[in-house]
Amino acid sequence: MSILITGGSGFIGSYTILELINERKAEKIVIYDLAAPSFRSILDRVGKEVIYVDGNILDFGKLLETIKKYDIKGIIHTSLLGNFKSMKENPMNCIATNFNGTLNVLELARINNLKVVYTSSGAVYGETMKPAKEIFPIRPGDMYGMIKATCELLGEQYAKTYDLDYVAVRLYFVYGQDRLYISRPFKELLDPPITPTDVLTAFVQQSVRGEALKFKKGGDLDLDFTYVKDAAHGVLLAYFTKKPPHRVYNISSGEAHSLKEIAQIINRYSGSKYVEIGSGTVEGWPPRPKFLDNTLARNELGYIPQFDIDKGLIEFYRMVKGHP
Ligand SMILES: NC(=O)c1ccc[n+]([C@@H]2O[C@H](COP(=O)([O-])OP(=O)(O)OC[C@H]3O[C@@H](n4cnc5c(N)ncnc54)[C@H](O)[C@@H]3O)[C@@H](O)[C@H]2O)c1
Repeated sequence: MSILITGGSGFIGSYTILELINERKAEKIVIYDLAAPSFRSILDRVGKEVIYVDGNILDFGKLLETIKKYDIKGIIHTSLLGNFKSMKENPMNCIATNFNGTLNVLELARINNLKVVYTSSGAVYGETMKPAKEIFPIRPGDMYGMIKATCELLGEQYAKTYDLDYVAVRLYFVYGQDRLYISRPFKELLDPPITPTDVLTAFVQQSVRGEALKFKKGGDLDLDFTYVKDAAHGVLLAYFTKKPPHRVYNISSGEAHSLKEIAQIINRYSGSKYVEIGSGTVEGWPPRPKFLDNTLARNELGYIPQFDIDKGLIEFYRMVKGHP
């Protein structure tokens, strides 16, 4: 069985591939991405069970050729252009690429009868004080949430109209060691408005480096941070569950923790006081639910998160330190 991972060189795509390799769940994994893979453990497999195709999600012909050439049976669609900042600054290119790219994936799935998993986001819910459930109406509060919701709706309509085996997983504040954080200049990481995951990542990095870092505010922001291995596992459960009863599942840790608590856990583990954060919320951060209720994924996909916040942060810290 061959699987195509669009955006497979990215953060979620890379961990999904590592899990697929570890679990020996695919004969062939094809990465379709404009960027080459950079994780050492994936690079070691390129040319063996992992194939890298340098392709644009907008190139329908190349996608079709790849699907035929490698006898693809399903697609995990993780490619994404932009983040919440760049989507606001450059909406046209981001919206067109993400929408048309998703349309290409769905159309190819329709023609070739392929399974599709779309990596959506809890950003589709917008602001809600309650634990967000899949039955809640979607009310995105920013451009990023809007495009994730739009692509989800496109997928749902394709699934309904053409009886596709299609599932969207709503991931949430995924953290863990990521090639971007390693290569991106630290200053850029801290450019406001900063994401809550960037704050968490900066805390881990600075703590490992033994350098102090203090954010003036943001410490009271309570969020459902999901360790990347749990997110990747949830993606694969959705992929390997044949036509699950629902078309949307929350994949999250299911618990909210404040950035203050996160700083404390990191300081406790490193035995230092390198990282600090004042009260209040993160400046410029769009409205999001505190946490996503993952009961549906537990009941119907068998999803059980393995990393609580302590365990996830400690593994992340150890990986940055070079002791996985
Ligand atoms: N990381 C999170 O916390 C999080 C949370 C919720 C949802 N998600 C969703 O998960 C998915 C993956 O996110 P990520 O964090 O791995 O992002 P990422 O930026 O690390 O990966 C995206 C990949 O898409 C590739 N890409 C961009 N434009 C492309 C194009 N035109 N053609 C082909 N490839 C292209 C990039 O090169 C990159 O490797 C996204 O859909 C995102 O919305 C992520």
